[in-house]
Parts: sequence; C-alpha cells; structure tokens
Amino acid sequence: MTFHIGAKPGEIAETCLLPGDPYRARWAAERFLDAPRLVSETRGMLAYTGTWRGNPVTLHGTGMGMPSISIYANELIRDYNVQTLIRVGSCGAMQPHIALRDIVLAQAASTIGSPSSSIFREMRFAPVADFGLLSKAYAAATGPVHVGGIFTSDTFYDERTDLSDQLQRHGCLAVEMETAELYTLAARYQRRALAILTVSDHILTRAALPSAERETSFADMIHMALHAAFA
Ligand code: HPA
Repeated sequence: MTFHIGAKPGEIAETCLLPGDPYRARWAAERFLDAPRLVSETRGMLAYTGTWRGNPVTLHGTGMGMPSISIYANELIRDYNVQTLIRVGSCGAMQPHIALRDIVLAQAASTIGSPSSSIFREMRFAPVADFGLLSKAYAAATGPVHVGGIFTSDTFYDERTDLSDQLQRHGCLAVEMETAELYTLAARYQRRALAILTVSDHILTRAALPSAERETSFADMIHMALHAAFA
C-alpha cells in the first residue's frame, strides 16, 4: 500500500491502462478483462486487475491534470514496479483536419510547466512517447488516427487565446491535461508510456462529442492500448 493506492504487493500488473475517470476503469475492466478484481479504491480512484488474452493488466484511474496523474504514476512506477503505462483519455482538437471522435496518438507533449519541470532548470525537456507502443497502437487503429505533438495544459477553461493560436501555427494536434508529466516520469524511470486520446471537443469549432458516443470511442482506445501492450 502507498499513500494513494490501496493494492497489496503483487496486485498491480506490470502493464497499466490509465483513464482519467475512475468509472471508466471499472467499465473497461468489466468489458475487456477476464476475472477483473477491484484492487484499490482509495479516494474513490478505482483500480481493477485482470487478464487480457492471458496477460495481466491493471486499469487505474488518474484523475484530471498533471499533479493528479503524477501522484498515481509515481507510485505505480516506484512502489508497484509498473513497466508500461498507457493513458486512455480525451482531448480537444486544435487542427481543422481533425474531427470529433478521431484518435490522436501523442508523439510528444509540450507544456508550460509540469510538476517535473523545475528539475530541468532553464532547459525545456521534450517529453516523448515510447516508439514501440506508438507504432503498435497505430497499427491497431480501426478508424481515423493522427500522430503528432500535443499540448498538455494546466487549465481547462483557458483564457489565453494567443497561446492556442501559436500552438495551432506550430502544428499542435490537440490539448489535454496529463501527458507531459506521464512521459517525463516514464523517461526518468526508463518505463514505456503512451497517450491514446479521443477527440471529445474541437477548440476551433467548439463542437463536442455527445456522451453516448464517448463510450464507443473509449472502447476503441482500450482495444488499441491492449494491442499496443501485448500484440
Ligand atoms: N482542454 C483541455 N483538456 C481537454 C480538452 C480541452 O479542450 N478536451 C479534453 N481534454
């Protein structure tokens, strides 16, 4: 047990899929895993461990934002020896050719400041995805998928319109709130990490995915994540 995870030693698999929403962890565990078992519910952050095609997998909620995912990823890596961490989440599209429901694979994640930024002093560290996971997830896609840089923001209700203009000009595909810290931690501890993101809203048009469709696209991401980890 750690400060924020109640699982006993051995109850967390080496491969973790990380949705922001803890209820999604339960939904995906019940739908995709064999013999799913609740292994932690500290602060309501549900975690389930089961198997997929015989491979042990844990689904663990992360909450929203870099400080929250940083806590769970740190403990999963350092205390439970997790080797592969795949975020399955949502993002806001920043380019006109990207549609609602498309999938974005985050090759790199820019940020203004993550919980880890200060250790790099004046350097701007470039957090990147694990290439093996990225290429396997790409191969497992069944619908439109985009690969490129994203922006990990520290705010959802963002008043900085000039900032999104600059990001768009520089080809940034989408915005979300967790990946830069996840990739930085994976780099620090030599683990594998990837973020698979469904476009839930569009920054340019303000369109948003109806909630009924979010479930289908979430299933598509879990499919890609499991193939990336084990195929
Ligand atoms: N902004 C930040 N994070 C997000 C968004 C967004 O528009 N959509 C999904 N996650």
